[in-house]
Amino acid sequence: MKVINPVNGLFIMPELGYASLDNAISANTLSFHHGKHLKAYVDNLNKLLPGSGLEGLSLADVVRKSQGAIFNNAGQVLNHTMYFEQFSTSAKPMSDKMNKLISDAFGSVESFKKEFEQKGATLFGSGWVWLSIDANGKLVITQQKNAENPVTDGLNPLLTFDVWEHAYYLDFQNRRADYLSALWQYVDWSVVESRMN
Ligand SMILES: [Fe+2]
Repeated sequence: MKVINPVNGLFIMPELGYASLDNAISANTLSFHHGKHLKAYVDNLNKLLPGSGLEGLSLADVVRKSQGAIFNNAGQVLNHTMYFEQFSTSAKPMSDKMNKLISDAFGSVESFKKEFEQKGATLFGSGWVWLSIDANGKLVITQQKNAENPVTDGLNPLLTFDVWEHAYYLDFQNRRADYLSALWQYVDWSVVESRMN
């Protein structure tokens, strides 16, 4: 995850490796979600950080150590960067090792997906559903409101689906559950699993 420009130290937008995700995220949604919403969070964060005492920290550390406007914008940059980077139109499947970890934690991969979708569908208002791994190697699914990220609870976040309406309303209107189930085919598990290191 490259989030900082090494020349000027400013946070940058993640590059998209796809123009759309056919059945899940249209080019129109991406133009607003990546091109407008995320860009605003990145621009706001870069304006807010100078003089805050948080300059030079990693993005995750800014999220851990900030409140208010800086927390909201830093959290949304971290959340969206992880979200956009985990999808691919040539997504790699889950490894046998990950399949076993998930099956041990949730009964089966299908049970995991069902619980993940259910937690995303039932999150009230705006937020994110996450799969994370804790310090003991245990996988957990959490609902996080607004700009929250599991790093503030000491977890290592691996996978996330954005359930803010801006993520799906142009394509699915009120059908959040349909949006969530459509995303799985584009999850690149090689990216998700690289976050365990
Ligand atoms: Fe979003």
